[in-house]
Amino acid sequence: MSERLVVIGSQWGDEGKGKMTDYFACRADMVVRYQGGNNAGHSVVFDGKKYSLQSIPSGIFNPKTVNVMGNGMVVNPVSVIAELEKLHDQGITDYQLYISDRAAMVMPWHADLDGAFEAKKGKGLIGTTKKGIGPAYSDKYSRVGLRMGDLLEPEYFAERLNAALEIKNIELESYGLPKYEFQPVYDRYMEIARILGPRITDTSKLINEALRSDAKILFEGAQGMMLCIDHGTYPYVTSSTPSAASVPVGAGISPKWIDNVLGVAKAYCTRVGEGPFPTELFGEQAHEIRERGHEYGTVTGRPRRIGWFDAVVARYVARLAGIDNWALMLFDVLSGLDTVKICTGYECDGEILDAPPSTIARLAKCKPVLIEMPGWKEDITDVTEFEDLPQAAKDYVRKIEEITEVPVGMISVGPDRKQTITISEKLANF
Ligand code: IMP
Repeated sequence: MSERLVVIGSQWGDEGKGKMTDYFACRADMVVRYQGGNNAGHSVVFDGKKYSLQSIPSGIFNPKTVNVMGNGMVVNPVSVIAELEKLHDQGITDYQLYISDRAAMVMPWHADLDGAFEAKKGKGLIGTTKKGIGPAYSDKYSRVGLRMGDLLEPEYFAERLNAALEIKNIELESYGLPKYEFQPVYDRYMEIARILGPRITDTSKLINEALRSDAKILFEGAQGMMLCIDHGTYPYVTSSTPSAASVPVGAGISPKWIDNVLGVAKAYCTRVGEGPFPTELFGEQAHEIRERGHEYGTVTGRPRRIGWFDAVVARYVARLAGIDNWALMLFDVLSGLDTVKICTGYECDGEILDAPPSTIARLAKCKPVLIEMPGWKEDITDVTEFEDLPQAAKDYVRKIEEITEVPVGMISVGPDRKQTITISEKLANF
């Protein structure tokens, strides 16, 4: 019987999922992306070369791994081709990649509208990646979107494109943006169909076949749970659900297959973009952690905001996504601090909250209730066994487990695959 593992981000994205997905992708027979698009981004370093991925699954470097871009994604085919070309230039030419025929397609006007919405919002802007993710998902749910499978049926594609342009051009005009003509778009996308067509298929079928075999299947989440459209810090969120709960719909499988969820969380917190961030740090301490953790966005290069580990968020996410283990990332970045802090509750209008409130207006009023623990000075970047960590570091990990009621199954102490402490036997055996 197959083995499944879902790896999801448990904070505001950029938790170090790239390292974890790469770690497990090396051993996986299949890697599946099930939500988001090229708003995600991570770098993978091996054999002295740096590769960057946005929408392509992490198993692309292993010729034996089947990579799937599931129906729950919004796929920008232009950017997929650019990513593949870049990988080709770097010598990655032997791979297996399939794209769902049901995946929504990100069209050029989606990025235009993303930028225009943001500009109109002025001070209330979300700080999106401007890749058109929100507008593409909006069109999917408004049922005016185009899907990857449409590319395989030129006449149908033409019909759908005409219908979409009729509406989109009105919208674009209202923002003072240039309209799109049918023919150049049609020609361009027929060229794209020629390039990507052989990869477009009913990927749910492929995944279900793998589920019934003895394959190891990795479901690779993008973004983080606090950016979830339903459960995150709305409206400062992305337009999909990064939770393990979105795997069944976004991959086209039964929910009964989901039984091993790894929540990736930094040993502290970061976020890019706008929105309240209760444990946020400023000044020297934020600067020190930002520099030590190289906390700058992979897609946008923006400096990330820094905060203490937020156990209120972690508990909430564990409840929503059914986290079986934490992977605690960038643990080495905390070495050298005199003390470390964990947020155990939010104080708001004289009340102590044990979960984030639903509105950001209320979240903005929340003050973190922090516990302070002794830090550790030792360099831990070579430690490979939990027992060999300094006592204060072990205490910090145990405290997180105690507050969140979820075991820490893995700890990352550096960027290399080898700099990983694996505590959970199940994860060690995947
Ligand atoms: P969008 O996904 O481009 O619409 O952006 C919405 C919000 O999600 C913004 O705050 C982005 O910075 C954030 N976001 C989107 N993708 C990622 C990611 O992969 N990592 C971290 N933040 C992200």
